[in-house]
Amino acid sequence: MSPTTPTTVESEAARRRTFAVISHPDAGKSTLTEALALHARAIAEAGAVHGKGSRRGVVSDWLDMEQARGISITSAVLQLTVDDVVLNLLDTPGHADFSEDTYRVLSAVDCAVMLLDAAKGLEPQTLKLFEACRARRTPVITVINKWDRPGQEPLGLLDEIEQRLGIVPTPLNWPVGIAGDFRGVLDPATGAMTQFTRTPGGATLAGREKIPPDEAARRHGPDWRTAVEELELLTSSGQVHDQDSFLDALATPVLFTAAVLNFGVAELLDAVRSLAPPPRPWLDVDGLERPVDGPFSGFVFKVQTGMDPAHRDRVAFMRVCSGRFERGVVLTHAGTGRLFPTKYAQSVFGRERETIDEAHPGDVVGLVNAQALSVGDTLHEGATVRYPPLPRFAPEHFAVVRPRDTGRSKQFRRGIDLLDQEGVVQVLVSDRRGAQAPVLAAVGPMQFEVAAHRLEHEFGAPAVLESLDYEVARRTTPTATPVVDGKHGAEVLRRTDGTLVALFTNKWRLSTIESQLPDGSLLPMFRADRPGPS
Ligand code: G4P
Repeated sequence: MSPTTPTTVESEAARRRTFAVISHPDAGKSTLTEALALHARAIAEAGAVHGKGSRRGVVSDWLDMEQARGISITSAVLQLTVDDVVLNLLDTPGHADFSEDTYRVLSAVDCAVMLLDAAKGLEPQTLKLFEACRARRTPVITVINKWDRPGQEPLGLLDEIEQRLGIVPTPLNWPVGIAGDFRGVLDPATGAMTQFTRTPGGATLAGREKIPPDEAARRHGPDWRTAVEELELLTSSGQVHDQDSFLDALATPVLFTAAVLNFGVAELLDAVRSLAPPPRPWLDVDGLERPVDGPFSGFVFKVQTGMDPAHRDRVAFMRVCSGRFERGVVLTHAGTGRLFPTKYAQSVFGRERETIDEAHPGDVVGLVNAQALSVGDTLHEGATVRYPPLPRFAPEHFAVVRPRDTGRSKQFRRGIDLLDQEGVVQVLVSDRRGAQAPVLAAVGPMQFEVAAHRLEHEFGAPAVLESLDYEVARRTTPTATPVVDGKHGAEVLRRTDGTLVALFTNKWRLSTIESQLPDGSLLPMFRADRPGPS
């Protein structure tokens, strides 16, 4: 093979796009996912993936609690092949209480699609997730959804993105018709219009007709002229797509959709295919690059138990960073040096599972019965490589958990250990509190509900949770620990990864105690600046 011929792994990597959709709940993430799958012809009609109402629960919502609460906690991966491009769409939980989980998913993607509701613009969860993308310099494509409903002015929305996120929005298309009267989009590249027509219930592809500018002007009169003028305004101020600025996360291409009607979805699919970056060399814990065609390596970004109610098995989702994965290969666990056989490798989307025989950089492999794997673990072949641990969010809710029935202590401990490894909650312990009364720490209280539900139903160890009065957590040092621990309104515990975590009842207690300590004794919990792709 000549040096210029790409290896198969390189060419397989080059045709992959691994991305996630980030949004505030209700912006239309499930609907859009479904619409993308429809466009990729993965499913015959929208509604088969997931959604609300009568369509809910078809594939993705498998835990009883998710069904009862109408939330989606567990996430999965949808692989779509469009022409020759393989799209890996990593699903993220919708509820803000599970944002830590979402963050882990974001650490495994090469691009994000930020979905906004046209009426609401940037919402708190969108901002938080965008910050996570910015910290990793993940390129972001922005989609303004629900354009079929009354909403804000498009220029105002772009202005909000620029002002509040500090990123330049560059339209890839521009809506013809105000929010609530979505006729189609103007394509800046050709100056032509793509006019959309509805199909009943949005269950099949929308009609798309390309019409030249003069015909668009004849059919849509003032709406067309407004679109042309607005786009000219943006063009003249330099808001034009530039691939390098997008890849550097300095600019975000913007599209308009009505996912429920499948309007603009084909355009989004094209944008992901043509603009989102393929997998790049991943940076290890020392900041060194592992080339995509190097020996196999991947890291676990999610562990999920009980996805298949019949088996209660445990699946570790591994993002492939380099090399080719072949089912059956024996990998090495970088943390322990132990061997990890991969006989059971699957693609998992909700209840649907298929055996994966091979995978390439950018793909996600579900390793079944992965008892030995925790979130953040690296697996590899050949020379050892270790990817940095996934950062944990700063918890804001704390509760002591105890087994309701002391006769079930063993099951209780096992359950707590597994929930910890899966990252469902953070588990903090101290000698003072003892092993039977660990403290659970969470970003959102719903994580406690999930933990309690699973302790009872999965591990047969009903538990009692008692909220603690703490609101603030900091990482601390062994030297500072004796000073902080035992002070009124403060306590130090140890997280299972060894981190010493100081808890304070409020930020005033924190600042009083901090003033008695040398600088650097109390550090923020969350560090998002974890390396990923180079
Ligand atoms: P999420 O996953 O981000 O939480 O949002 P989801 O897709 O579940 O959508 C939230 C609601 O917004 C749903 O309505 C959905 O139908 C609606 N929706 C999504 N995209 C669009 C769009 O482009 N236009 C309009 N008009 N609505 C949209 P729902 O009332 O909660 O459920 P349903 O009974 O309509 O399914």
